[in-house]
Amino acid sequence: MAGLRRKLKFLVTLMTVNLFIFILVFHRGGQDKGHNKVLVPSKRFWSKLAPSQAYWNRQQQRLDLQHNPILAASNSNNTSDDDDVRPVPDWLNDTGLNPDPCQPDYRVTTHVKDYNSLPPRFKDFLLYMRCRSYSLVVDQPHVCQKTRTGEPPFLLLAVKSLAPHFDRRQAIRQSWGRAGVLANRTVVTVFLLGNTTAVDHHPDLSEMLRYENAHHRDILQWDYRDSFFNLTVKEVLFLDWMTTRCPGAQFIFKGDDDVFVNTLRILAFLKGLSGPRARDLFVGDVITNAGPNRNKKVKYFIPESLFVGTYPPYAGGGGYLYSGDLARRLHGASQHVPLYPIDDVYTGMCLRKLALGPEKHKGFKTFDIEEKYRRNPCAYKGLMLVHSRTPQEMIQIWAWLNDPNLTCQ
Ligand SMILES: *[C@@H]1O[C@H](CO)[C@@H](O)[C@H](O)[C@H]1NC(C)=O
Ligand SMILES: *[C@@H]1O[C@H](CO)[C@@H](O)[C@H](O)[C@H]1NC(C)=O
Ligand SMILES: *[C@@H]1O[C@H](CO)[C@@H](O)[C@H](O)[C@H]1NC(C)=O
Ligand SMILES: *[C@@H]1O[C@H](CO)[C@@H](O)[C@H](O)[C@H]1NC(C)=O
Ligand SMILES: *[C@@H]1O[C@H](CO)[C@@H](O)[C@H](O)[C@H]1NC(C)=O
Ligand SMILES: *[C@@H]1O[C@H](CO)[C@@H](O)[C@H](O)[C@H]1NC(C)=O
Ligand SMILES: *[C@@H]1O[C@H](CO)[C@@H](O)[C@H](O)[C@H]1NC(C)=O
Repeated sequence: MAGLRRKLKFLVTLMTVNLFIFILVFHRGGQDKGHNKVLVPSKRFWSKLAPSQAYWNRQQQRLDLQHNPILAASNSNNTSDDDDVRPVPDWLNDTGLNPDPCQPDYRVTTHVKDYNSLPPRFKDFLLYMRCRSYSLVVDQPHVCQKTRTGEPPFLLLAVKSLAPHFDRRQAIRQSWGRAGVLANRTVVTVFLLGNTTAVDHHPDLSEMLRYENAHHRDILQWDYRDSFFNLTVKEVLFLDWMTTRCPGAQFIFKGDDDVFVNTLRILAFLKGLSGPRARDLFVGDVITNAGPNRNKKVKYFIPESLFVGTYPPYAGGGGYLYSGDLARRLHGASQHVPLYPIDDVYTGMCLRKLALGPEKHKGFKTFDIEEKYRRNPCAYKGLMLVHSRTPQEMIQIWAWLNDPNLTCQ
């Protein structure tokens, strides 16, 4: 009996509350009817694009606006006289620009806040930042046609090297970079070189290079100063070369000449790929949530006057693997990204332009493997890349991997 009364009391309370809420809502609804009109802000509620304080970012803003299809259309005709809606802000109007991008751009001396106090490598970089075309002095125009099968290569190995590294190149030819048919796939190897210049007090090695190339026909050399900050130039020049000389290559490995690459493992991995995964492939040792290093003593130091912001995910430059299809798209994207002094970060920026990102694969050991496993042949079986190895170690590891008697679990 007491239970029933309590239930009844609860029900009545609930209905009272409901009624109260109904009255409240109804009342407010009635009030709103009088204010049913669109509010138009009296002033502009967006802000104009402000120039970045950092030089690289500003160049990117300029490129982004130049390639913005909406602005391009409104700019072609019907431009308004109203300052507020003029599509391209004044600061983007690059007057006094030398039409030859390969002439030193002395405007950087005033456009970069602390130009005079920057280390020389930054001055060199900034003066030539707009230049992307250097003459190809040693080319292999037919390397991708004159393969043993007559087909374009399944895998193109592009190795960043420096003129004096004769022994590294030779060790690569005798081990993981042996061109020909491997595991029933055509492999082509090229070495990417700039010039070791007299400015940097390098001895003249041109005769020795000529001899080496006459034997192996695998050197690509461009006439620019081969320096750390010019590795991005090497990247864009390689993409140029690849799209004209080797467009049929299905996959590309690009890496340094001090890494060991398990080409057999890479071929086995690629064999299992197809469809969109193969088309958009970009794998390596991926670094995420990184940004510019502000420590002046570090090789990767970048001043705030050059770049602000964070880096997109990128694959460490020791070596990464990607599809030929993506290489062609990267070539296009790179024209919309200003050169950045760190090449692997730059490639990450180009990937981001394509709305893609690199994929991490644990077979890429750019920070080496544990010391206790380094002399264990089986430790290399499942890997794709290890950094770093000497020429002798490359030959040793390759022999281990090709030993038919090698048995690993
Ligand atoms: C822009 O205007 C000029 C002159 O009024 C005209 O000749 C031209 O065809 C126009 N271009 C476009 C893309 O409408
Ligand atoms: C330019 O403006 C005129 C008149 O406002 C319009 O008819 C024409 O389509 C516009 N042209 C473009 C290219 O937007
Ligand atoms: C850029 O500036 C120059 C010189 O001040 C001027 O002649 C030109 O019309 C400007 N261009 C644009 C797109 O504002
Ligand atoms: C070798 O590859 C070709 C295509 O590249 C294929 O037709 C052939 O069957 C393969 N041979 C073997 C033994 O796997
Ligand atoms: C490379 O540098 C050397 C020395 O500075 C110079 O003689 C040569 O012309 C440059 N170019 C090439 C393609 O070797
Ligand atoms: C890059 O190469 C160009 C052409 O040789 C040279 O002028 C420039 O100083 C180089 N940049 C760096 C950072 O070494
Ligand atoms: C593999 O083992 C057999 C038998 O022990 C030996 O005769 C042969 O030489 C070995 N092969 C290699 C490449 O070491």
